[in-house]
Order: sequence, then structure tokens, then C-alpha cells
Amino acid sequence: MAAEPGAASRWDGAYARGEATRSWFEQEPAMSLRMLGSAGVTAADAVIDVGGGASPLAQALLDRGFSDVTVLDVSETGMQYARQRLGPRAGQVRWLAADVLTWQPGRRYRAWHDRAVFHFLTAPQQRRDYLRALGAATGPGAVAVFGCFAPDGPEQCSGLPVARYTPDQLAGELGGQWCLVGQDRQEHVTPAGIVQPFTWAALRKQD
Ligand SMILES: C[S@@+](CC[C@H](N)C(=O)[O-])C[C@H]1O[C@@H](n2cnc3c(N)ncnc32)[C@H](O)[C@@H]1O
Repeated sequence: MAAEPGAASRWDGAYARGEATRSWFEQEPAMSLRMLGSAGVTAADAVIDVGGGASPLAQALLDRGFSDVTVLDVSETGMQYARQRLGPRAGQVRWLAADVLTWQPGRRYRAWHDRAVFHFLTAPQQRRDYLRALGAATGPGAVAVFGCFAPDGPEQCSGLPVARYTPDQLAGELGGQWCLVGQDRQEHVTPAGIVQPFTWAALRKQD
């Protein structure tokens, strides 16, 4: 089951309206870096940022010596902002324009990162399709880091309904093969000054 029809143009449009209107905008991916680091992810590891869009994470990883960085997003416009910011270094990142729900990974990654994407999957079939991609793109020992709206977070984002999670609920969604190895909470402040509580979870894939 693909993302809803028109997902790419919906997200392209959201990005084209500019940084100040993007509730998920952040200058520094501090929580992402902290969660990846505390789960033992190092610069030697291959990382994929799923639904990374215009996120500064790819740049922050290059700055820290990561050499195998992939960004996947259904929105070309979102990734174009990140590429522009990186300038010539954009060539050091693999950019995949794809719907994660139908994507067939051609390789495995040591670390899977998702900030504010999984929580849009409100239909069980969408979550199953996402978890199929996660399973195919990771092997034993891989780390998955998620930042999703917390139970007291918004009920909608960008006009779309969202699911809200505790760390244990996120772990439950991923299933018994994934073990919770880190968790945190963040009060993200949007460019409009609205506080959005996030749940962060790091999980490790068992043998
Ligand atoms: C709220 S934004 C978060 C962007 C980024 N992770 C960040 O933290 O800045 C959600 C992102 O998920 C992407 N997205 C939504 N549905 C997707 C799908 N089915 N496959 C791939 N990307 C998707 C959107 O294009 C957008 O870039």
C-alpha cells in the first residue's frame, strides 16, 4: 500500500512554502545525533535518514566523518533544499526519491533514522509496509532511531492525522525482533513558537 495519492506533491508543496512555515523545522539535529550516538552508531556505520527531506541531519553526519549517508524521501523538493545547503558536498550523500511504503531496499544499513515520518502512518497496512522496508534494509545488530509525537503531542501535522507514541508503544509496533535500547523526550518548538512533545526511541535488531 503506497502513501496516499498525491503524497509527493503535498509534501513538495509544504516544503516550497519555506522554512518558517514548516512545523518540523530545526536548525540542529541535536536529538537525532544524541540518540544515534548513545545507541553506539559511529562514523564507520551506514546510515539512512528515512523521510529526511530538508533535514540538517545528513550535513551533520558528514561534518562528523560519516561517509555512507543516504536520505530517502517522497519529496524531491524537500531533498533539494538539503542538497542546496550542502553545495558540492551533496555528492557525498545518496539521495533516493521514493515512497518508503513501496521501496525495495537494495542493500542494508547499520542505522535507520526516522524523525516525524512513522507517526503519519495511521493505517495498520501502512505500518506493515513500512516495517517490511525496515526489515529488508537492516540486519542483526542494526539500530533504528525514531522521533514521533508523544502521547501529549499534536493530533495532526501538516493537515494530516498522526499516531502518538510512548517508547514502549513504538517498540511494540516494531515487534519482538527489536529491543528498546534508549529513550528520551523532547519539547520541540516550531518556528511559530508552538511546543510539540516528541518521544524518542532507539532500538536494536536482535539476531
Ligand atoms: C514532518 S516531515 C520530517 C522531515 C525530516 N525527517 C525532518 O526531521 O526534518 C515528514 C517527511 O516525511 C516525508 N514522507 C512522508 N511520507 C513519506 C513516504 N511514504 N515515503 C517517504 N517519505 C515520506 C515527507 O516528504 C517529509 O519530508
